[in-house]
Amino acid sequence: MSATIAPAAQPYVLGTGDDELARLGLQHRLWSDAAVSAWKAAGIGAGSAVLDAGCGPGFATLDLAELVTAAGRVVGVDESDRFITHLREQARVRGHGHVAGVVADVQAMPISSVGTIRAGSFDAAYLRWVLCFTPRPEAVLAGVAAALRSGGRIVIHDYFAYESMTVAPRSAAYDLLVRATADSWRARGGDPDVMARVPGMLGHAGLRIVSIRVHQRVARGGTELGRTDPMLAWPVSWWRTFAPKLVDMGRITPEQCRDGLHAVETAAADATRFIVCPPVYEIIAEKP
Ligand SMILES: C[S@@+](CC[C@H](N)C(=O)[O-])C[C@H]1O[C@@H](n2cnc3c(N)ncnc32)[C@H](O)[C@@H]1O
Repeated sequence: MSATIAPAAQPYVLGTGDDELARLGLQHRLWSDAAVSAWKAAGIGAGSAVLDAGCGPGFATLDLAELVTAAGRVVGVDESDRFITHLREQARVRGHGHVAGVVADVQAMPISSVGTIRAGSFDAAYLRWVLCFTPRPEAVLAGVAAALRSGGRIVIHDYFAYESMTVAPRSAAYDLLVRATADSWRARGGDPDVMARVPGMLGHAGLRIVSIRVHQRVARGGTELGRTDPMLAWPVSWWRTFAPKLVDMGRITPEQCRDGLHAVETAAADATRFIVCPPVYEIIAEKP
């Protein structure tokens, strides 16, 4: 089961290379608890039809496939051909015939009366860390709303106040990396504060908000009783992958990159320091 539609014009700012694919896998493992509990709160279970919009390589898509069982179906949509190929291959290896991958711009959801994404045919949709990268998040939500059936629910995990990410004690070199990152997203039409606008956009899309909450994590440095805080891998892998890309984009100098990464590694190695992760907002809404 597959389909290919013309991708969006602006390339995804984080790229689709091996490093980003591996980082997304790690990130999903760290955030899968929050995802599963939100999916269950939205009523996703055996037999559900779920749309995973901006699914990346499909780490959440494949977990959704387990949750809905072969009695349901999951469609992952992403503009990256490489990521959708990864999803299809993993679905095949696991024998998940109820998983489909579609290469498309989620701002122009390919909804049709007969295709993979049929209007009014989904019980739920999941959008994690995609609206913050899209210049027209309202168009994404309108497409998802059209794909949902009456009573269907959308679950969103995304950022607001991204730039509150910092390190304690504070480091100017670290905070500079955070600002440069947010600026790099904005320069491509993204919005690191997008969740502030999502409630209004959901209303315009005809969806009623069921709940809003926030997941605020801190990642402690060093080790305690020989154990490293698992959440530490999230900011550390992020900066090791993305800080060099900020240099390539001309947003920071190699020296600023070196100093920022030094601040990251210093915090990661010291049990008296911690990294304040960017808050992840969770919104569940329903189509009346
Ligand atoms: C941070 S990743 C998140 C992937 C996945 N939702 C997850 O949580 O693991 C963002 C994804 O959004 C995709 N993306 C960004 N803009 C898109 C667009 N306009 N249409 C489709 N996919 C898009 C990227 O290709 C990337 O896979």
